[in-house]
Amino acid sequence: MIDIHSHLIYGVDDGSYCLEESIKMLSAAAKLGIDKIIATPHYQKKLYENTTVNDKYAILMAKAAELQMELLLGSELYCNEDLIKYIRKISRKSKLNTQYLLIEIPFNYTCEDAKKMLHRLKRYQVKIIIAHPERNLLLMNQMKPFIEYIKSSGILVQADAGSIAGIYGHKVKEYTKKLISLGMVDFIASNAHNSNDYSRVFSKAVETIYRWCSTQEANLLLKSNASLILSNKPLTHYKIM
Ligand SMILES: [Fe+2]
Repeated sequence: MIDIHSHLIYGVDDGSYCLEESIKMLSAAAKLGIDKIIATPHYQKKLYENTTVNDKYAILMAKAAELQMELLLGSELYCNEDLIKYIRKISRKSKLNTQYLLIEIPFNYTCEDAKKMLHRLKRYQVKIIIAHPERNLLLMNQMKPFIEYIKSSGILVQADAGSIAGIYGHKVKEYTKKLISLGMVDFIASNAHNSNDYSRVFSKAVETIYRWCSTQEANLLLKSNASLILSNKPLTHYKIM
């Protein structure tokens, strides 16, 4: 499997707090059959500027290789006015090593707010993956316009393992299931902040997703689509609805 969203770089955001925990995260992920992880520390001007990421990434990349895993570096970019200002300066590393940006929509954004900001971002010729929109209650309450926008905009969607495992409650779990059944989700990722998020949460999500979907669909969500974007190829099942 390929995990495109993980906070396993220690001491740079609210994810792993030390090297040992990051190594535990790598081991837990390896045990589940994840062989590629894109580390995506939060990037938000003034809050998470991540000046020490590169050194820590180099250390963890070597640890990952010992486990026959590949560790890549991206970012989870917080979508606000600041992001529009510095978008031109964002390096390839922040783009999941591809032309894709992993964008976190603020939880107080309505569908209209999200549309306006994403529309502005798209002017910079970037491809957008929205991180865990299923956890945004305002978007949940505006499912129809949100789905219409996603379908018409070419924006991709990543759902969290925690949403599927039920750690954000029944309503989020059911909404995630609905979005998946409508073909609106392209990736399932761990969004892991500690080793438990792999060993307990991600493992439960994987088990659940193979119950919810056919093997072929589950494979697309957990590995094939991620593999395609890492090679900058289009997704095969794109928005089947
Ligand atoms: Fe995250």
